[in-house]
Amino acid sequence: MNLLITGGAGFIGSSFILFMLAKYPWYRIINVDKLTYAGNLENLRGAEGNPRYTFLKADICDRQAMDEVMRKYEIEVLVNIAAESHVDRSIVGAAEFIQTNVGGTSVLLDAARDHKIRKFVQVSTDEVYGSLGPSGKFTEQSPLHPNSPYAASKASADLLTLAYHHTHGVPVVITRCSNNYGPFQFPEKLIPLMIANALQDKPLPVYGDGMNVRDWLQVADHCSALDVVLHSGRTGEIYNIGGSNEKTNLEVVRLILKQLEKPESLIMFVKDRLGHDRRYAIDSSKIQSELGWKPSVTIEEGLAQTVRWYLEHREWWERIISGDYMEYYRKMYEER
Ligand code: NAD
Ligand code: TYD
Repeated sequence: MNLLITGGAGFIGSSFILFMLAKYPWYRIINVDKLTYAGNLENLRGAEGNPRYTFLKADICDRQAMDEVMRKYEIEVLVNIAAESHVDRSIVGAAEFIQTNVGGTSVLLDAARDHKIRKFVQVSTDEVYGSLGPSGKFTEQSPLHPNSPYAASKASADLLTLAYHHTHGVPVVITRCSNNYGPFQFPEKLIPLMIANALQDKPLPVYGDGMNVRDWLQVADHCSALDVVLHSGRTGEIYNIGGSNEKTNLEVVRLILKQLEKPESLIMFVKDRLGHDRRYAIDSSKIQSELGWKPSVTIEEGLAQTVRWYLEHREWWERIISGDYMEYYRKMYEER
């Protein structure tokens, strides 16, 4: 099978490519990535030299380039993972989020329709549902209520994806996953940022009161979910993917400090994120009962493995935080 994966140089995309190359030794994988600040070919060392893997530096918004990729590599299935993915950046400026997450998805949907591909998997997020009160979980029927520009751009892409199914018969499936963590996650997101700061004995900036709740899923479990959806997900359907691992941010940060044997005095409460969603929790019973998927690790086990990975791969994140990232960090956290 010829499989196009977009955003394959990012955190989830690189993990998914390595997972698929290992599991399906007869698949050919084409990775299209623009290599934004978040794209890093170092994440794909494990795929280098593999004759079944091809990397193409391209923008999913480039209509001609996407058309050419589809034709040249006779793409049969597409998994759209490329996106601008960080909520805080979308608060500072939304333009790139609209361009890539909405515009790019529309270009890919056109290409998928024109080249009659067999399946289009749109990788989305639970953030499209908005924020929950103290109880309840998001189901696939929950209304869309995106609160951040990032979430709004992802919800828009989801609606466009469903419209292309309804109008043009493009065989789409949408996945909505909770917060991921694991190796190669860019250290602007909560877990890798806190690990990197703790290892440098720098303050750990917790937004607001630290009581916002997220459901955490190890990236390998997200990959196995995408695998079952890609092969067995029903066309036109939406599948929630979650870890049933709800934690407050403060609980996550304390777990990290405990595993690194660092003092809780490193925790620093800072100004809250604008429009900060209070709680996410996901009901993933549909994918579990229909497709037989379930998460394999708890946050406690997964976090211990992740902390170990960041300890053993210091050069990977140190290289990132020594570059442009420093400027981002200064701007984002200086006034908090
Ligand atoms: P990431 O920021 O680590 O990676 C995104 C990748 O997309 C990068 O390699 C980047 O270079 C590439 N990219 C960005 N714009 C592009 C463009 N115009 N053309 C081609 N490539 C482009 O993101 P991630 O955390 O790996 O998330 C991947 C996807 O999963 C996103 O769609 C995100 O919405 C979704 N998601 C993420 C999480 C999470 O917790 N990280 C949870 C649920 C869903
Ligand atoms: P993040 O990793 O940015 O994911 P998302 O906003 O997509 O859920 O943030 C996870 C949670 O951690 C969110 O409630 C915001 C909070 N957070 C902090 O408290 N401090 C930080 O420095 C960051 C980056 C996030």
